[in-house]
Amino acid sequence: MKKFYITTPIYYPSDNLHIGHTYTTVAADTLKKFKTAQGYDAYLVTGSDEHGQKIQEKAKEHNKSPKEYVDGIVADIKKLWKMLEVEYDQFIRTTDPHHVKVVQDIFTKLYEKGEIYKSKYEGYYCTPCESFWAESQLVDGNCPDCGRPTHLAEEEAYFFRLSKYRDSLLKLYEDNPDFIRPESRKNEMINNFLKDGLEDLCVSRTSFDWGIKVPFDPKHVIYVWTDALSCYITALGYGTEEDEKFKKYWPADVHLVGKEIVRFHTIIWPALLMALDLELPHKVFGHGWILFEDDKMSKSKGNVIYPEPLIDLYGIDAFRYFLLREFSFGQDGSFSREKFLQRLNSDLANDLGNLVSRTVTMVEKYNGGILPKPSKEEDIDKSLIELAIKAADKVEYNMDQLNYSQALEEIWKVVRRTNKYIDETTPWVLAKEERKERLNTVLYNLTESIRIIGLLLNPFMERTSKEIFRQIGFKDNINWQDAKEWGKIKSGTKIEKGQVLFPRLDIKKELDRLNEANEKLIEQRSKKEMEEFITIEDFDKIELKVAEIVEVKDHPKADKLLILKLKVGDEERQVVSGIKEFYSPEDLVGKKVVIVANLKPIKLRGEESKGMILAAEKDGKLTLVSTLEDIQSGATIS
Ligand code: MSP
Repeated sequence: MKKFYITTPIYYPSDNLHIGHTYTTVAADTLKKFKTAQGYDAYLVTGSDEHGQKIQEKAKEHNKSPKEYVDGIVADIKKLWKMLEVEYDQFIRTTDPHHVKVVQDIFTKLYEKGEIYKSKYEGYYCTPCESFWAESQLVDGNCPDCGRPTHLAEEEAYFFRLSKYRDSLLKLYEDNPDFIRPESRKNEMINNFLKDGLEDLCVSRTSFDWGIKVPFDPKHVIYVWTDALSCYITALGYGTEEDEKFKKYWPADVHLVGKEIVRFHTIIWPALLMALDLELPHKVFGHGWILFEDDKMSKSKGNVIYPEPLIDLYGIDAFRYFLLREFSFGQDGSFSREKFLQRLNSDLANDLGNLVSRTVTMVEKYNGGILPKPSKEEDIDKSLIELAIKAADKVEYNMDQLNYSQALEEIWKVVRRTNKYIDETTPWVLAKEERKERLNTVLYNLTESIRIIGLLLNPFMERTSKEIFRQIGFKDNINWQDAKEWGKIKSGTKIEKGQVLFPRLDIKKELDRLNEANEKLIEQRSKKEMEEFITIEDFDKIELKVAEIVEVKDHPKADKLLILKLKVGDEERQVVSGIKEFYSPEDLVGKKVVIVANLKPIKLRGEESKGMILAAEKDGKLTLVSTLEDIQSGATIS
């Protein structure tokens, strides 16, 4: 069986994914389903790109460790793919231990081969931002991020000899015209990056530490793109003892990526693979962006479209259909809720839904729900049959070009033609005139055409395809080649009318519903984010006070606990504390410490404890917290 290896980019788990991210994954999943239907052994890899400064900062903003932070988002990403019924074979995380290990091995190997070398990175350094900038990036000589002055500085770093691959890359593009698709992206790469030569690439950083460490020089972390791109082979077990999948599926048949990351996939990635003496992917397809009403989506602009409300309200198939049909894969396209709803009404409710429901209703009405036998073919039948059985080839041709929209259009040509066939043959007139033989032929042809439509739709809209088959009683295995043959559905099959596939929508009403659902989701998410913090009111509930230790004794029933008598202003109280390992009683008497004074009193091993003494912890060692200067006990801390 021939293999077909497809990848999506691995997503940054810095925020919840939006409709733009789902675009690549839905396209990749559809391609996988399409190739599988064609008889390929198709393999799909997706995942998350978890290292780097941005993620580290984002986690800090949320008061979490980077790993803790990304774990939460990765769980949401997986939930989203499940919701969309994406059938990936592997979800690779760049924090997976085997990925980390292999990326380190790759780095070491390239260093030992002289492909990576140590040198100095020179640039304009912004001390508060801890960032290097090229002169061309400065704004009036200042840091483009914070606007503060920068100074020329140099730093030790590792470089990959990218420059030496320029000619090989140009040759690669020339010898393999399909390597970068669409053509416009190839020209962009040549003109913007390769024409005037390539510089070596800095592949290590020291300004942050959330990344994979250079194994032989751990103050450096490996450049996030070297780390991320390697996932396409680490996901297959490259560099480990379990590398059967790598042997079977590599090289990738297609890397699907958004247009802004084509450069990384068509310059850096093939150069790294050449340096590693590995085979190169066959194709990198750079698709366009989904904009919101012609504008780039961003959280700060408040125009991010999340997929969940669209899927919840209208179903997976409507959502997937819209993404692949509305936008031309290689180009940018603009999303609007009106466009989404209009497409649902025109293509799904009017064209497809109506065709199925009209046909099934007529078979029920005119032949008791049993598919009749066709007889003599007329010219009009021939033209329908011809169009229907040729559609699969056209879909294949367009899918080979990753022209999803045109592939669907080819299917809709059959849908529309079949609808027209009903109007042309007017089965209700045939019934009235009791032309039974002709009526039977028309009903059979309609149903058979719908069977072909169901098969063609299967990789794009699996649920709908199955529902169509259920209604027309088609129970054979799904086999793409069967879409090229007429007469596969058997006369005598029981037809069973089911629910309406896609109800017609009142656009104005639905717009309100959608807006409401979107706002609700955004509110829920920001509420969840808020829960990660406490408010000043929460903090105000905690009463912190300075207390003087007046007496200390061992807890009679617990080895690790001390019983302390404290003076808090005029009040005396007892607190039990687990600091015995770190302090002896004589060190403590007379010292002033900080306590949480309004903690609910409890008994610890039979001794009352009224409050809690604060201590700082590092590597398991506790140090009591005190004030910088001496202050009377009972003083409040805020
Ligand atoms: N982590 C890198 C990819 C590393 S691959 C080895 C990355 N991640 S990303 O989360 O920022 O983007 C992932 C993909 O989503 C990219 O292909 C990007 O083009 C795509 N999209 C993000 N916003 C998009 C739209 N608005 N529209 C279509 N795709 C867009 O880049």
